[in-house]
Amino acid sequence: MNSIYLDHNATTPVHPKVLEAMLPFYGDSFGNPSSSHSKGREARVKMDEAREQVAALLQAHPGEIVFTSGGTESDNMAVYGVAQALRGKGNHILTCKTEHPAILNACAELARQGFEIDTVSVDRYGKIDLAHLQEVITEKTILITIQHANSEVGTLQPIQAIGELARERGVLFHTDAVQSVAKIPVQVADLPVDMLSLSSHKMYGPKGVGALYIKKGCPALVPLVAGGGQEKKRRGGTENVPAIVGFGVAADIARVGLDDDSSHLKALRKQLIAGIQDNLAGVEFFGHPDECLPNTVSLGFEGVEGQTLMIRLDLEGICVSTGTACSSGSISPSDGLRAMQVAADKINQIIRISLGRNNTEQEIHRVVDCLKRLVGDIRQKVAVVS
Ligand SMILES: Cc1ncc(COP(=O)(O)O)c(C=O)c1O
Repeated sequence: MNSIYLDHNATTPVHPKVLEAMLPFYGDSFGNPSSSHSKGREARVKMDEAREQVAALLQAHPGEIVFTSGGTESDNMAVYGVAQALRGKGNHILTCKTEHPAILNACAELARQGFEIDTVSVDRYGKIDLAHLQEVITEKTILITIQHANSEVGTLQPIQAIGELARERGVLFHTDAVQSVAKIPVQVADLPVDMLSLSSHKMYGPKGVGALYIKKGCPALVPLVAGGGQEKKRRGGTENVPAIVGFGVAADIARVGLDDDSSHLKALRKQLIAGIQDNLAGVEFFGHPDECLPNTVSLGFEGVEGQTLMIRLDLEGICVSTGTACSSGSISPSDGLRAMQVAADKINQIIRISLGRNNTEQEIHRVVDCLKRLVGDIRQKVAVVS
């Protein structure tokens, strides 16, 4: 039986055309893009092409794209880079508790260094309170960093309104768009955003590569990685050429197929939710019902532990994730879900299904059938034990 992969917010399979484009750069085309000879120039040309492809996906200028080692580094680069560059102007940074650890842990480190970090409150869907954001901006605020889409529940933040507010108050705005790029249109030409993070492996590209978009005119960030003058002195270190080339091709495929991908995901999501609602009782959905990613369904079944269900699904060849995070061998409820005031017992029940472009209607039928059987079985066993 073929397995069904439903964990695309964790990572995506590399598109065959991406792999094909990368391979020569692990072989004969091994040049360093900083070298002036033909091998180096060959790498440079392909890297420039990839920069154009990533820029085109965002409707950005290629000069506004800095390649990094992934979403985590892009987030760190924005947070640390602004903090260091603007520390003479202020020491106050605003974020929210549903951010990825790449933002939260960078902010926590800055707090240890004397920066003031405030978190804007979120509602039960994980959406920030704009009025609260407006209240907590001060003369010392140098950065607002609020994600575009939440990886756990898929809720979208009002980044247009946040950016406008930031502009009005003269504050830089960074958004982590790792989960939204390639799933919905994210076009920086129309957005009041100064910096934006993206990651290749969330969009059918290779792991270990990403980018930070830095709008032209944004103050120069202090580089996170000091080294040679690569990436116009914004990020030192010889570029990961094969991965960057693959990232470019993935961005190109995403740009061309975005409308089709988006509507395919929306249709599958609708089918999945309807199938579950029609066939299973005692189910609760999390995240915003409408203002959300087209691929993410976060849900819990009354009386059914998410970990148990995830393992049972895995045994049937279906990969999903849970609402709990596993670190240092212990399982703890996700901080983001706690910030959405989801009770700990409910968090323990959550599974996240994140769809991808290769999933099919038939797979969703099989998943619904499987859920029906497994949830019923687990509930029955729990009833016998208690
Ligand atoms: C919202 C968000 N930001 C950042 C990251 C980190 O990206 P990367 O795995 O490329 O470091 C992730 C990865 O899950 C994410 O979901």
